[in-house]
Amino acid sequence: MSNLRESAPLLDAYLSYFEKARTPFTIPGHKQKTSALDAGLGAVVDGDIPLYGGLDEIKLTNQTLKAAEKLAATLWGADYARFSTGGSTHANQALIFALGQPGDKVAVSRTAHRSVLSALVLAGLEPIWMNPEIDHATGVPLGIPASELERALQEKPVAVLLTEPGYLGTISDLPKLISAAHQQKTPVIFDAAWGGHFGFHPRLPRHAFQLGADALITSTHLNPNQPILHRWKRKVDSIPKHPRSLQTSNHQDFGTSN
Ligand SMILES: Cc1ncc(COP(=O)(O)O)c(C=O)c1O
Repeated sequence: MSNLRESAPLLDAYLSYFEKARTPFTIPGHKQKTSALDAGLGAVVDGDIPLYGGLDEIKLTNQTLKAAEKLAATLWGADYARFSTGGSTHANQALIFALGQPGDKVAVSRTAHRSVLSALVLAGLEPIWMNPEIDHATGVPLGIPASELERALQEKPVAVLLTEPGYLGTISDLPKLISAAHQQKTPVIFDAAWGGHFGFHPRLPRHAFQLGADALITSTHLNPNQPILHRWKRKVDSIPKHPRSLQTSNHQDFGTSN
């Protein structure tokens, strides 16, 4: 039997919730009474427990989320971590909003996910596209060549956004790209939505922080909760403000820690 619960504060809080007699004084949709209407519907929705007045007290007295995010930050070697249940889409938006002012340029992989593209539009940032090398026999994009990044860096972007691994599992020469961007004091941010397992086994590629990147968005579903993780060394220091402004105020998936 796994002892995961002992080291997973949110899981422990969730399971503990059902172990106690309780009367939920919470928002109406979370009264856990739906099974009285319909057993099937109840089976789907009555297990949905909010953080406020559910996994934690209304004022987050137990700091359950903060403890869980701290563990995630430690695991990934980040300064801090934020969880989102709004997908890597939300995490990408939150991070991209923090990068600069409208009109600033950002170097972006041409193979980025649409959440990156829409976030650039919403934030008013201007992309400098970096095209991947293509394997002509198969048409598979192989990775962003250093020459593409060098070209983009000449336009003085406020950040470099890489999507790694790519959709077909390919990875660029990341140490080379990160080092080139850092020489120009430009932060490197990874959308690693498909690389949640990276760095956790010697036969897997290293994750972004192990390679020296500045921020990492990863996903545990393509996975249910997506941590947004930062090791913030350079220019962008406003990230903690943004996640909560972009999503529901009733789950507080991004915490108040830090
Ligand atoms: C590389 C990449 N980034 C971000 C996302 C957005 O993830 P979500 O759909 O969980 O918001 C996806 C989704 O497939 C993705 O492939």
